[in-house]
Amino acid sequence: MRKLSLLVVVMMAFFMIVGCSSGSDESASDDAAEKTMENLVVGYAQIGAESEWRTANTASIKETAEELGVDLKFSDAQQKQENQIAAIRSYIAEDVDVIGFSPVVETGWETVLQEAKDAGIPVIMVDRRADVPRELYATYLGSDFVEEGRKAGNEMNTLLPEGGKIVELVGTVGSAPANDRYSGFRETMADNIEIIDSQSGDFTRAQGKEVMEAFLKNYGDEIVGLYAHNDDMAIGAIQAIEEFGLQPGVDIKIVSIDAVRGAFEAMIDGKLNVTVECNPLLGPQFYDLALRAVNGEELPEWVPSEESVYYPDKAEELLPERQY
Ligand code: AHR
Repeated sequence: MRKLSLLVVVMMAFFMIVGCSSGSDESASDDAAEKTMENLVVGYAQIGAESEWRTANTASIKETAEELGVDLKFSDAQQKQENQIAAIRSYIAEDVDVIGFSPVVETGWETVLQEAKDAGIPVIMVDRRADVPRELYATYLGSDFVEEGRKAGNEMNTLLPEGGKIVELVGTVGSAPANDRYSGFRETMADNIEIIDSQSGDFTRAQGKEVMEAFLKNYGDEIVGLYAHNDDMAIGAIQAIEEFGLQPGVDIKIVSIDAVRGAFEAMIDGKLNVTVECNPLLGPQFYDLALRAVNGEELPEWVPSEESVYYPDKAEELLPERQY
């Protein structure tokens, strides 16, 4: 009899323990399934504030977080890869739910992304890609930079049907947009066009101006076209061309990329011929993907953003509705 009651006690204890532990499993999986925008914690490692485009991109990331009630931890790396890596490490240490970042250059990210993966934190690349194995990131949200370069090449062909010598202002050395816009342009550029010089202006207005001054000093009015990898460098170059005594958009045809408001203003003034759009307003899509990644959804390798090409004839009409 004593043995029987002992057995009953042991069995009751066993069922209580099993019951408790399966109950806590359920609540753990409930918690995981319950991630919403309001309890999502996001770490975002931004590149810097090198261009009008980047300012608009940062505003989109911050404003959308506020609208959705997401807890956003944001850092600005001042265009330095080591600062971005340090920011990602601090987000891992804080155990955020998901990390977003725009890799300033393509290489050198494997170690830190492996650390994020080991910590079970999904990483979303936004705007720029890093050259890393597929298993190290949840998805890439951003533009087709090669296609932007191809479009720019086609536009230069139309502007210079007789061909001629052109110069190129390249973006940040080693960055995905600089690499891809460089190669895409060459895919479509006509045979009668010759790129006589190609230098980096690091995507900034100041360096765009400086490098264009050097081009003008070396080649003067031999130059009939300028291909700038972003609008900010083109706007800096426009200043240099005017100071040199030539008419931007007329003596030197200019094609650039981004379609920021400054480019529309330059087109209205007849100083810029074409801008190929690169959309920075990635906030809404980013948080949608972030939540889906945290809740365990498999995401596509690449979610491309939709983009257009703009010309001076519609610039005045379109400028008031441009958001960046
Ligand atoms: O990665 C996107 C590029 O970065 C934009 O074209 C440029 O303006 C920015 O700084």
